[in-house]
Amino acid sequence: MLMNNEAAAELIDKAAKVLRHNDRRGWTVPAGDLYPHQWFWDSCFVAIGLRHIDIERAQTELKSLLGGQWHNGMFPNIIFSNDRQYWRDRQLWRSWINPYAPDDTSTSGITQPPMLAEAVVQIGEKLKLPERRSWYRQMLGPLVRYHEWLYLDRDPHKEGLILLLHPYESGFDSSPPWLSELRKHSVPWWLGLVERAHLDWTISFARHDTKYVDVAQRSGNIEAAAAWVAIHRLRRKAYNSEALISRSLFAVEDLTFNCILIQANKCLVKIAKTLNHQLSPDLLANMKRTEAALEQLWDEDSGHYYCRSFASHKLIQEPTIATLLPLYSGTITKERAERLVGLLKRRRMFSPNWPVPSVPVNSPDFNPYKYWQGPTWVNTNWLIIQGLSNYGFHTEAAKLRDQTIKLAAKSGFSEYFNPLNAAPLGAANFSWTAALVIDLLKD
Ligand code: GLC
Repeated sequence: MLMNNEAAAELIDKAAKVLRHNDRRGWTVPAGDLYPHQWFWDSCFVAIGLRHIDIERAQTELKSLLGGQWHNGMFPNIIFSNDRQYWRDRQLWRSWINPYAPDDTSTSGITQPPMLAEAVVQIGEKLKLPERRSWYRQMLGPLVRYHEWLYLDRDPHKEGLILLLHPYESGFDSSPPWLSELRKHSVPWWLGLVERAHLDWTISFARHDTKYVDVAQRSGNIEAAAAWVAIHRLRRKAYNSEALISRSLFAVEDLTFNCILIQANKCLVKIAKTLNHQLSPDLLANMKRTEAALEQLWDEDSGHYYCRSFASHKLIQEPTIATLLPLYSGTITKERAERLVGLLKRRRMFSPNWPVPSVPVNSPDFNPYKYWQGPTWVNTNWLIIQGLSNYGFHTEAAKLRDQTIKLAAKSGFSEYFNPLNAAPLGAANFSWTAALVIDLLKD
């Protein structure tokens, strides 16, 4: 047995304390100093955990996201705190330059993985039918508008795969395929010069993140500057996807995002069914297309799924944890799922002492300290556990669940962890780590 009831209750108490500490009266910051605003998929994970301890507060967390929704349906990845001290963050994005941005709230101009429908259903399933219906009724409209926006705005050729315009949209900000695309398309001449002259340390003065977390655990200075350059390019076009896509080579059909969308679509269908609501034939056709298109991201030779460049249609052949996420989509065959579980169990790939590393241990890109380039994250473990259960790999799911809980019990609720020795990395007292550990313990 993993831990006795008393130890489990104690861990839940500690996790709940982290969430209370990060509560900003109705919404939750991912971690006070490093991330002082509301992030989209973070709040979804937070709500999934909160539903066990205070279901009304979990609902409030998701309802507070609605205030940031754009008039065209997009949910932005960040809703900025309106505290005066954060004017610089709001000024960087200037969401108000786009006519669809909300009138009295500052947000970013890009989205993040569509976890909302899943979080809504996870809460709904804990409610009695009448309350569930009323909850779904509040969330259905915004969800439909969001999913329709994704297809209208980000699938211009009706391929079924949503394209992303900035690494931050993937939630895996500095994952190797995104870094290599950033390097190809977002390093202007002056930044190349800075790098060649070994002056990249100068960039660190302009960075906010490395004031709180050692740069060895975050993106490098050149990559951070390239991500900033990419924000400016989006802003110059006022976040107009059409204008951006027609001119830019920097657009990626992201594997994780599309896997999450497939599951989110299923949740949306479930919500609509509960309410006897007919989704439009167009949206249903788009959903089907995404399920079929996932196969285009599979590479038989290497036995991995990859992201794909939108412009060249070439797979970006850099293996990451995303290769396992088609398990979460629930749409691949059992045989394919078995192959992925084979990868998951390989010690030299995805099963070091404290799995699951964000990049396989045997990849030349693997770095056990750096952000999305090796460390273990609790949210990706959670997604994989759901996926394993979907396909009936109950022993593997239970094992990963136990390892994840043990990691938090040993090293606290950090943002991410060294997969070789469990050392805590990134921000301490990170909300989604705490929330999802509660969910795993209550499971
Ligand atoms: C980092 C992560 C992103 C998360 C954000 C706030 O940028 O890469 O996924 O949403 O922090 O926690």
